[in-house]
Amino acid sequence: MFKYSFLIQYLTIHWHEMCIWSRLKHPNIVPFDKIVVDEIEGRIVGFTSKYIPGGTLNENKTRVFKLQWLHELMRVIDELNLNLGMSHQDVAPRNIVIDEAADRLMLFDFDFAARIGQYEYSESRNDIKGVIFTMYEIITRDESRRQVRHEEQDVSAVEHMSWEKHPDTQLDHPVSAFRDALDAWCKRRREGRPQVTINTQAPNCLDWPPVPDPPLTKATMRQDGGNNCEPIKGDDDDEPTDKNQMQERFNWFREREMRIVYGWRRTELLKRGETVLNWWRPAQKWPDMDDMADDDIAKGNGESERARGSYQRPFQEDEQQKLVSGLRKCVSKCVMM
Ligand SMILES: Nc1ncnc2c1ncn2[C@@H]1O[C@H](COP(=O)(O)OP(=O)(O)O)[C@@H](O)[C@H]1O
Ligand SMILES: [Mg+2]
Repeated sequence: MFKYSFLIQYLTIHWHEMCIWSRLKHPNIVPFDKIVVDEIEGRIVGFTSKYIPGGTLNENKTRVFKLQWLHELMRVIDELNLNLGMSHQDVAPRNIVIDEAADRLMLFDFDFAARIGQYEYSESRNDIKGVIFTMYEIITRDESRRQVRHEEQDVSAVEHMSWEKHPDTQLDHPVSAFRDALDAWCKRRREGRPQVTINTQAPNCLDWPPVPDPPLTKATMRQDGGNNCEPIKGDDDDEPTDKNQMQERFNWFREREMRIVYGWRRTELLKRGETVLNWWRPAQKWPDMDDMADDDIAKGNGESERARGSYQRPFQEDEQQKLVSGLRKCVSKCVMM
């Protein structure tokens, strides 16, 4: 599964998620796979994790939920909290899959994960609460209790009420067995030893480097004399030719230097005839594949804009393969950690 972001605002979140997840090796955590970098400058595009088919616990509610899976969830949370000093902070059915071949529950999605007690940590998102709500939601299918801000989610109310199993939920043990296991774990975690209130108390507390600066790039800065400056990556020696460009040159002066550039407009680079990373993702609304030539899909060229139409019918396997092979061609290179 490929996780990426186009938006510079999410760079820090993705860096942390990648650093955390790539350091986690546990039978109940979806294995991290590869970092995806572009071939042009080796910049990180995203990362992959092992694809676990069958849907998350939220997407696929047809399984008979096993008591053993609850024990696995509690165990992996203990490992994160008590051994690594980490809190997942987003424990929910949507972030859990079942590896059916191995008959194992697996947690993923570490973009909210935090070092316990450090600045990115929020007690209102603690994982004990996350596990209780997750089990409550699986058994009752009532999601309303978490549809308020984390600070307002009342976990003790949920712990003290009786849980009515949704008629379609299937469990391999009575509800009372799930609740007994959960209560015993919560008691141990809240009252027992060890307690980890700050990550440095954990025996193998996880750490990773801050977001690094990108490499130096030859860049031209447009500057308006004040604080506004905008990078134009690459050479910018072209003389203004039309009235708009003359006006632009009047407003901005330009300065060329080697500097760190965090982001730039692809359209600017294309105008300059520079090589750009030309890849695209499958449309969020599925395209009508009959309208698309194979070439459009593989190259992600301008024609792929047509893919953004409304598309309602279920996604077929051959269509999925077409998109995946198109994506493979466009995502240039994967490197092992
Ligand atoms: N390794 C995986 N195997 C199977 N499905 C996955 C995997 N990773 C992500 N998904 C699917 O993609 C969705 C979004 O992934 P996630 O990492 O939770 O992103 P976000 O941070 O946007 O919530 C999940 O809810 C799940 O449906
Ligand atoms: Mg998620």
